[in-house]
Amino acid sequence: MASPATRGRLITLEGIEGVGKSTNLRFIADRLAAAGIPFITTREPGGTPLAEEIRALLLAPRDEAVSRQAELLLMFAARAQHVTNVIAPALARGEWVLCDRFTDATYAYQGGGRGVPQASIAWLEDYVQDALRPDRVFLLDVDVATGLARARARSGAGDRFERERVEFFERVRAAYLARARADGRRYCVIDAGGDLPAVQRDLGVALDALIAEARREVSGG
Ligand code: TMP
Repeated sequence: MASPATRGRLITLEGIEGVGKSTNLRFIADRLAAAGIPFITTREPGGTPLAEEIRALLLAPRDEAVSRQAELLLMFAARAQHVTNVIAPALARGEWVLCDRFTDATYAYQGGGRGVPQASIAWLEDYVQDALRPDRVFLLDVDVATGLARARARSGAGDRFERERVEFFERVRAAYLARARADGRRYCVIDAGGDLPAVQRDLGVALDALIAEARREVSGG
């Protein structure tokens, strides 16, 4: 029997480079499919043709210094397209949206990493997203040395972000963890330093709880 429709949920996956977002995104997608939940998977920056073009601009290594304001605004320009054309319509159809990074990445990379004031990010977040916030953020956490070693084994010199120094990623990680500590209901921190079965066991437990909560809401329990 088909399971009753739930309200669409926005689930995001976050973490520094090399935490295993892609593998774990597939794991979550398989679990949602097995539970009979309609969903889409998408990513940021990107997720629409224009937003993917902005992604390419943002990630390309270049000689010209990129100002933190330009980087911030390009992130939110891509997000505006993505929210309007993909995320909001999917949620309105009752689908779940599984997104590889979202605005927490802006707080972590542009806020923590580049030093953009939180208030500037918060203003753009309200302007671009209205009340839309993730229902659950899975923060895959690993120490910076391990994450960067994994990322560099995969992609060599890497994109414009992957070329940043260790200190940059230490600030990014600290900003992610501070946000998670400040809102333990919305964030679920997963220790991504262990082996994959252990990571996915933790992820599975947290996801099953979210699915059960969504079904209780539908059945009025
Ligand atoms: P990805 O390669 O993990 O998909 O992410 C692309 C890069 O973009 C990654 O280094 C993090 C960065 N990024 C930001 O700096 N701010 C943001 O808001 C987002 C969504 C990503």
